[in-house]
Amino acid sequence: MKKVLFVLLSVLIISACGESASGINQNVLPTVPSNYVNLTNPLSADAAIAGGEIFQSTCATCHGSGGHGDGPAGAALNPPPKDLSVLQLEVSDGYLFWRISEGSPGTAMVAWRGILSDEQIWQLTTYIRTLK
Ligand code: HEC
Repeated sequence: MKKVLFVLLSVLIISACGESASGINQNVLPTVPSNYVNLTNPLSADAAIAGGEIFQSTCATCHGSGGHGDGPAGAALNPPPKDLSVLQLEVSDGYLFWRISEGSPGTAMVAWRGILSDEQIWQLTTYIRTLK
């Protein structure tokens, strides 16, 4: 009996791991690394203007001009770009800054740190906060 329970438990644990690893459960967001988790946006709301300009020139091809994940280059991607107007309601500034800085490994979302300055990434974060 004990053995059966153990096997059952193992199967449950393995299937739970498989689910998160393959990203089937889209509602579970990754944990922000400790060096990003407490970051807050140092810029004021008007940084959204500069952020919007960078977004349209650099991000909209995949994310769409309104950030809804419907840009022309985004359609063929797997995983597709997320709707940032929805995501931004669920995550912290540190999360957005982290993801833009370091990208999402294994996806078309590259790391922008080094390409964009920290200030530009905060401007983008400010802009993403305005998306509806
Ligand atoms: C080549 C296409 C492409 C470009 C250009 C691009 N992204 Fe992305 N982005 C993606 C994809 C695909 C995802 C989804 C990744 C995932 O599901 O993990 C993503 C995810 C994101 C996320 C959410 C990550 C998460 O944790 O869900 C943010 C925020 C983001 N992008 C911001 C930006 C910003 C800002 C720019 C411009 C500097 C940009 N992206 C440029 C393809 C792109």
